[in-house]
Amino acid sequence: MTIGLGTGSTAYWTIQKIGERVKAGLDIRAVATSVASETLARELNIPIVPFPEITHIDLDIDGADEVDDHLQLTKGGGGALLREKIIATASRRMIVVIDAAKKVPVLGRFPLPVEVVPFGWELTFRRLAALELNPALREKDGQPYITDNGNYILDCHCGSIPRPEALHTTLNLIPGVVENGLFIDIADTVIIGQEDGSTAVLR
Ligand code: A5P
Repeated sequence: MTIGLGTGSTAYWTIQKIGERVKAGLDIRAVATSVASETLARELNIPIVPFPEITHIDLDIDGADEVDDHLQLTKGGGGALLREKIIATASRRMIVVIDAAKKVPVLGRFPLPVEVVPFGWELTFRRLAALELNPALREKDGQPYITDNGNYILDCHCGSIPRPEALHTTLNLIPGVVENGLFIDIADTVIIGQEDGSTAVLR
């Protein structure tokens, strides 16, 4: 199989487990959704397949920041939303792994990341502010946070996103927006880790 490797603190453990199984003989190849996950995969001797050689991706396993009842997601808390969405939408199946606190009735409590090109980002920021999305430029060490793709992230403090499909379309039609963290109709299965160690599955 060809496996998409997610990004974040949950995906970290998935990659560790896959690494253990590869060491025990599991025959898979992988494609990573961030530089950090690719580095980890290489450390664990998980074979990484170069993009020109990818004919298909069987399964993508990733975390999420929020999941609603319809399996719509927000992602990008770790800044990897663009690569994550490219890999997830190219995969035959996407499994999302979360803890119970991330399962919400309505998306939007977690700030929605929007990746924007640095050129004229202030103008893009104003477009988002005009939509009352309360954007904030993500920073690291007092400087704009730079994604693996060389872009900025505007975290939108929406509070509530009652119509995620509509917002997804609106955002991606704004010049300067590269991608947003709403994953609409992409996840096939969500595995929820519960406080007591059990899991629940949503399909
Ligand atoms: C990375 O950009 C994100 O989309 C992560 O997948 C998401 O933020 C979940 O991360 P954690 O597993 O670290 O909460």
